[in-house]
Amino acid sequence: MLSKNDILDELRAPDSHALRGRADAARREHCGEGVFLRGIVEFSNCCARSCRYCGLRRENRRLKRYRMSPAEIRQAASTLLRWGLRTVILQSGDDAHYTTAMLCDIIRDIKTDAPGAAITLSIGERPLEDYEAFREAGADRYLLKHETVNATLYDRIHPGQSHAVRMSIIERLRELGYQVGVGFLVGLPGQTAEDLAGEILFLQDFQPDMAGIGPFLPQADTPFADQQAGERETVLRLLALARIASPGTHLPATTALATLDPSEGFAAGLRFGCNVIMVNGTPDSYRASYRLYDKRVCADLESARRAIRLAGRTASLERGDSLRLQPAE
Ligand code: 5AD
Repeated sequence: MLSKNDILDELRAPDSHALRGRADAARREHCGEGVFLRGIVEFSNCCARSCRYCGLRRENRRLKRYRMSPAEIRQAASTLLRWGLRTVILQSGDDAHYTTAMLCDIIRDIKTDAPGAAITLSIGERPLEDYEAFREAGADRYLLKHETVNATLYDRIHPGQSHAVRMSIIERLRELGYQVGVGFLVGLPGQTAEDLAGEILFLQDFQPDMAGIGPFLPQADTPFADQQAGERETVLRLLALARIASPGTHLPATTALATLDPSEGFAAGLRFGCNVIMVNGTPDSYRASYRLYDKRVCADLESARRAIRLAGRTASLERGDSLRLQPAE
């Protein structure tokens, strides 16, 4: 068990060498050498929310908006499956254009196409009944980042939303039997080292199936355009601490980390406890418009494999279900 002081000490230590070693050992014991490749389709960049850091926020008039049709979404998913990937992540802004029925149809179609594949939804906050409907239609996993455990900070940077609601949805997703992904931003304006320690304590307590951890990166058309990005070294230390605090949690080496360090970000993440890379399957014509932050670096199959090799690991095309569901060997 890590205490708050243990975590703060690691965040302040002169170097992260020993921490990396501990995280790498935990990763090896709990996840092995394989790095799961997952496919993601960002099917709509329309969003009803106003998150102050995010380029998709509804106030951003500069962004060219797009919505993929159900046929285009199925097509993109089937391309990922053809590449051999066995997880399809469907991600979008909070976009009510896609009704419950539309999304359930898409989920069922992909499942019919590939019964052995897992479907992850990452489509934000919806009416509670929807989560049940998606689950019944065949969705296996749901990714809803909590963004920050600091409720005051959360409410300040997410106008119109509430931390309490966010956390209650996350609990509900777990009750419904989803493999649940959470996640937080590192280096948000106003975030303290104590807040970051709180993130690790939360992971230790909640033991999520997945956690997405990446730096805050400024986007030019948001209120946070002129703020400092999160630090690479701090992100890596938090990944390592997450691996130690919640060893059976899938940790992707995130696109945001790779954007901060385009040449080695993915490989560095893998060395600091990560065991997943998400391969982008959004059609080229839309990809640049999914502008959460500027100069976003996405992984394709080739760059993912290169990073995995660089880190001395092996790519895995297994489904990579929750490590919490698997009996220990
Ligand atoms: N920097 C880093 N991550 C961001 N996200 C959105 N905007 C940014 C940003 N400026 C992430 C958030 C959110 C997801 C849609 O993308 O974590 O959950």
